[in-house]
Amino acid sequence: VQMKQINLTTKITVYSYDECTELEKKLIDAAKEATSNAYAPYSEFYVGAALLLENGQIITGNNQENAAYPSGLCAERTAVFYANAQYPNQKIEALAIAAFNNGDFTLDITSPCGSCRQVLLEVESRYNSDVKILMYNRKNEVYVAESIISLMPLSFDKKSLNSEI
Ligand code: THU
Repeated sequence: VQMKQINLTTKITVYSYDECTELEKKLIDAAKEATSNAYAPYSEFYVGAALLLENGQIITGNNQENAAYPSGLCAERTAVFYANAQYPNQKIEALAIAAFNNGDFTLDITSPCGSCRQVLLEVESRYNSDVKILMYNRKNEVYVAESIISLMPLSFDKKSLNSEI
């Protein structure tokens, strides 16, 4: 039997906060700050997301929960949909994510959930440009993925709709 195995690898670079550029620090600070406006009375897991637009503007979002749980929305999508609603012609260049619970920022990084990854993939294909993802933890580490693709092996995007057999 001819068995084929595909090993997919991905690259995440871990920096310390201090090694980040001033702009990256600003974006991470904005994500941390945005956790304080999260509406998360059910999970008490307060997430902040900060986007850097092509024009240099920073847009933030946070998770917005609901008593009917699925009606809530993650921080990342809140930020992306706001940016796309207000600035549809501005490329999104980077996204920083931080989360706060039990009185402090999380010890581990928070990475985007599956649905947010799919939305970020759409952003990359829409603007034909990578979105750099910066994930912060309270050890002052920043995990960096150069593109959402790094977090999504075998992803389905608009190209998949037109692929030939
Ligand atoms: N959440 C986010 O906002 N972003 C993530 O990356 C992970 C999860 C939210 C959804 C929900 O309000 C809470 O965190 C707990 O899952």
